[in-house]
Amino acid sequence: MFKRAIVRTPGESMLSGLTTAKLGLPNYEKALVQHAEYIKVLEECGLKVSILEKNEQYPDSTFVEDVALLTKECAIITKLGTPSRSGETVEIKNELSDYYTNIEKVREPGIVEAGDIMMVGSHFYIGISARTNESGAGQVIEYLEKYGMSGTLVKLDKMLHLKTGVAYLEQNNLVATGELLTKEEFQNFNILKIDDDESYAANCVWVNDRVLIPKGYPKARVTIASAGYSTIEVEVSEFRKLDGGLSCLSLRLF
Ligand code: GLY
Repeated sequence: MFKRAIVRTPGESMLSGLTTAKLGLPNYEKALVQHAEYIKVLEECGLKVSILEKNEQYPDSTFVEDVALLTKECAIITKLGTPSRSGETVEIKNELSDYYTNIEKVREPGIVEAGDIMMVGSHFYIGISARTNESGAGQVIEYLEKYGMSGTLVKLDKMLHLKTGVAYLEQNNLVATGELLTKEEFQNFNILKIDDDESYAANCVWVNDRVLIPKGYPKARVTIASAGYSTIEVEVSEFRKLDGGLSCLSLRLF
């Protein structure tokens, strides 16, 4: 079960955030409203939420999930894979030191964004993408093994991050879409398939027996609810315009 979450309020500079989405510019006022709603939903799921101040220097810094991998045993500060985001990790160590005594750090030539890392119990699947390389993933696996956990690699061809297309919902249930549906690594899971036309909904988040899903994806909602989950829809349209999803907007702590 998760106890806490860390989020960061988006800055107005989000308008110049990285994107491939071709959905137009985000509306900043709407994004603030959606972010506040996201926090409320996390609180509804029983989490105490720490809200970091907006940081205009980093347009993508509201996507706080990427800056650290949080496990039950340690936190691993990542090394973001794109120059405009590389400074986002600077202040996270201070924040995490309130909750972790074991804090590790990925170093060059490694790059890793934690959006590429999916936790399944004490095992972690790490996507090799444009933002995460084998050196970075290798360092993460070494840290995981140091604390009695494990990790394996999953090669990505098209997705921005591993969790763009896959989410673990506990009880062996895995939501997946696109190229991730057929990955050998995932064939022992009970796969909940998300159709291509609703692929954005594959970035959903299990939080204490509830599943947060983006608003506006009815088939995905039925698929997840039919597997026995209580779902909560959250509107994140303005973050989608920056390729960001529900998981990207928080770091979740045990
Ligand atoms: N806009 C989020 C990212 O590309 O990292």
